[in-house]
Amino acid sequence: MSQRPAVFATRNVPDAVKERLTRDYDARINEADTVLDADAIVREAEGAEAVIVSPPDRMDAALIARLPQSVRAIVCYSVGVNHVDLDAAKERGLIATNTPGVLTQSTADTAMLLMLGATRRSWEGQSMLRAGEWKGWAPTQLMGLELGTRRLGVMGMGRIGQAVAHRARAFGMEIHYHDVRRLDPEQEQGATYHETPESLLKVSDVLTLHTPATPETYRFLNAERIALLPENAVVVNSARGDVVDDEALIDALKTGRIFAAGLDVFNGEPNLHPGYLELENAYMLPHLGSATVETRNAMGFKVLDNMDAIFAGTEPPDRVV
Ligand code: DGY
Repeated sequence: MSQRPAVFATRNVPDAVKERLTRDYDARINEADTVLDADAIVREAEGAEAVIVSPPDRMDAALIARLPQSVRAIVCYSVGVNHVDLDAAKERGLIATNTPGVLTQSTADTAMLLMLGATRRSWEGQSMLRAGEWKGWAPTQLMGLELGTRRLGVMGMGRIGQAVAHRARAFGMEIHYHDVRRLDPEQEQGATYHETPESLLKVSDVLTLHTPATPETYRFLNAERIALLPENAVVVNSARGDVVDDEALIDALKTGRIFAAGLDVFNGEPNLHPGYLELENAYMLPHLGSATVETRNAMGFKVLDNMDAIFAGTEPPDRVV
């Protein structure tokens, strides 16, 4: 590239990514790392040819319509693209890209952390210790559930779902799954396919959600579907908050209809439903699924690879629009 294209990153980026970004681009970076409102994004994007956005940026149709004329591409620093109105981007003739494939291992690790945290009452144990309330070992203290005797229901058996199933097998879990299509036997690795989500829910002692947020999956886990889960079931969500009906899940956790939930993602992040905060059986993380040095660097390099292709006039490898 003879002249470095101007780009704007709405959030700070890891050092290794920043090195390449500032070397190859005339990059304006929001190093204060605050979530910017629409006015600030429009203002800061002035003169930029690409805007690098993250899940908290609400790139809705109104904001996309207001982006400066200089902007040619919305480059997502995420695999999820539900924060971007892709139809509006397309209508404006913008390119949009994401970062698939590189979050698989870290997100699958996080799903296992949530599974263990929820089944083993980790939050209660931590709280007891830190509050100085631990009186020592007791036969009935904080008894949880063992993964190895349970069936894992994987809702959405894509890359991440398969990586979670792989890990869960090592814990001795029996794997069941639903997806829009059945995997071939090599990918299935002995997992049992369910043609409907409802059939999967009935056998999911632990249900782990790995569906993208789409109009079809919106509030997928509602009261009717929770009622199908076995007694003492555990729900794990490392996909998107939109897939869960919060009121229904909170009610099921409160009444003991389900044993616990492990949640990394929430509706309306970062303003999660306050009902979760009162629940001891909700083991929660602040959307850390991809938060490893390796993965966040790899995501950033994908952002750069996509931009390099866009500005070289070739097809970006991870184009979504
Ligand atoms: C993504 O990339 O969509 C993830 O949710 C970020 O962790």
